[in-house]
Amino acid sequence: MGLDRSLCLFIAFLSYLVISVHGQATARPGPVSGTRIGFYATTCPTAETIVRNAVTAAFRSNPAIAPGILRMFFHDCFVLGCDASILISGANTERTAGPNGNLRGFEALDNAKTQLEATCPGVVSCADILALAARDTVVLTRGTSWQVPTGRRDGRVSVAANANNLPGPRDSVAVQQQKFSAVGLNTRDLVVLVGGHTIGTAGCGVFRNRLFNTTGQPADPTIDPTFLAQLQTQCPQNGDASVRVDLDTGSGTTFDTSYYNNLSRGRGVLQSDQVLWTDPATRPIVQQLMSPRSTFNAEFARSMVRMSNIGVLTGANGEIRRVCSAIN
Ligand code: HEM
Repeated sequence: MGLDRSLCLFIAFLSYLVISVHGQATARPGPVSGTRIGFYATTCPTAETIVRNAVTAAFRSNPAIAPGILRMFFHDCFVLGCDASILISGANTERTAGPNGNLRGFEALDNAKTQLEATCPGVVSCADILALAARDTVVLTRGTSWQVPTGRRDGRVSVAANANNLPGPRDSVAVQQQKFSAVGLNTRDLVVLVGGHTIGTAGCGVFRNRLFNTTGQPADPTIDPTFLAQLQTQCPQNGDASVRVDLDTGSGTTFDTSYYNNLSRGRGVLQSDQVLWTDPATRPIVQQLMSPRSTFNAEFARSMVRMSNIGVLTGANGEIRRVCSAIN
């Protein structure tokens, strides 16, 4: 009797398993979550062209917006995910935080948004405009293109203190790894994405500590001596901290692998860049990326897509801002 009852229960349990597994396999998909390529194909087919044209026009009058927007995207994604929280202006917003002080290119994104609101009102998020624009800046500086998954929605929170988790120019490799892994990116993503420093500049103030003997500390011995002399001339000890120097010396406006070559020759500008060569955890990756058979372009695209999906708001979450600099 007891055995019969157990058998019945067992059969009932098996039937439940079969039905629920089958049910799941044939269930209709729930609300779409996550990003996908061509999200605006029917709702705003010209969205990507409008963004590209706005970024291109801004780049023609000021090429410095290309590195500016690429960096802005990184700073957006690392703080509360890729939700355009970096674009909100006002007291105590992310935009006012120290590491974001020199970001450039906001007007190009605002311009794209104005045109998009005229063409497809309330459809295209600022988070997607920024993700698309970041890709466009790489293409404009002669890097390769890739398809950007879209469908992000805009966040409603932007607080300066949240920017404290951004990697800093004096971070060790271990700290850089920890900050990337906190957002789901591995060491290879780290070395590949920091390759974004193949374009753009840094203010003397963020690396001058490496250049001179201060408080008994000699200049950073990992800097190539000829390069050290060059940097000392560009950034004298008591000179203007806001003077800007190419991060990829000799090739600062072209998206290429020369940044990694420079690291191998002690010509990294930021300490956080140069340690990618001196630390055995990352040196082999730098060596591969600088080699003649480098897969940098394809890997950069792949890691950018990964970064572009950090903490995204989709479906019914977040909102589509009417203007990128303010929540609705
Ligand atoms: C450990 C990671 C990183 C650190 C510590 C770091 C740090 C910095 C610093 C200190 C500057 C100079 C800022 C200034 O003086 O205005 C800079 C510039 C820049 N960064 Fe990074 N960065 C990191 C990763 C990335 C990533 C992942 C990207 C993009 C994929 C990126 C793109 C850029 C670009 C394009 C510039 C030049 C900006 C301009 O010319 O306006 N960085 N970075």
